[in-house]
Amino acid sequence: MVKISPSILAADFAQLGEQCKMVLDAGADMLHIDVMDGHFVPNISLGVPVLESLHKALPEAFYDVHLMISHPLKYITPFANAGASLITFHLESESDVQQTIDAIRAAGCKVAVSIKPATPAQEVFPWLEQLDMVLVMSVEPGFGGQAFMESALDKISAIRQKAVEIGRPDLMIQVDGGVNPTTGAACVAAGADVLVAGSAVFRAAVPQDAVAALRGQEA
Ligand code: DX5
Ligand code: ZN
Repeated sequence: MVKISPSILAADFAQLGEQCKMVLDAGADMLHIDVMDGHFVPNISLGVPVLESLHKALPEAFYDVHLMISHPLKYITPFANAGASLITFHLESESDVQQTIDAIRAAGCKVAVSIKPATPAQEVFPWLEQLDMVLVMSVEPGFGGQAFMESALDKISAIRQKAVEIGRPDLMIQVDGGVNPTTGAACVAAGADVLVAGSAVFRAAVPQDAVAALRGQEA
């Protein structure tokens, strides 16, 4: 079944714990934590203390941490200690890819690599065997609420095809940015199985209906 990972970037930060509980109660499978450093992307969001507090308040949740930062390797241990379940870093970051994958594994977290819209799918192929997940960005990282870029669909298909070819049909493919029930269904048809959605879940009148609709189900 398709997994739904609401991005807390679209939450009301004054009520963050309550809002996270709300989307988990609504059927979300995990919480997507967007970390931005104002350098890798032109925006600053949140960091380790926020994850630490959320993890204390909701210890059973799966924390899907998306690092949009220039030097992810430096921050693997703090995010893992704060409660990250899975850590995604960008192939375009300045950290060594192999060392960063190794550090995430050594910290006991699942490992994912993300590619920005301009990065070809093929660049992630050499790493697929070692990864739990690939995150295909369907917007330029940095801000929530942007329009979905259709170019993500061919990249998802190419990665799914390659994963099957190398005997890793279980590789998760996540898509992030502008995901709503329509664009999400196109991503799933292309081979994605984890949908990140900020606005579509946190800004919905009935979050449970939004999660079900993203999953392709009637509420
Ligand atoms: C963008 C972030 C996304 C974003 C998604 O840099 O990685 O997770 O918050 O937000 P929506 O679903 O509103 O496009
Ligand atoms: Zn994200």
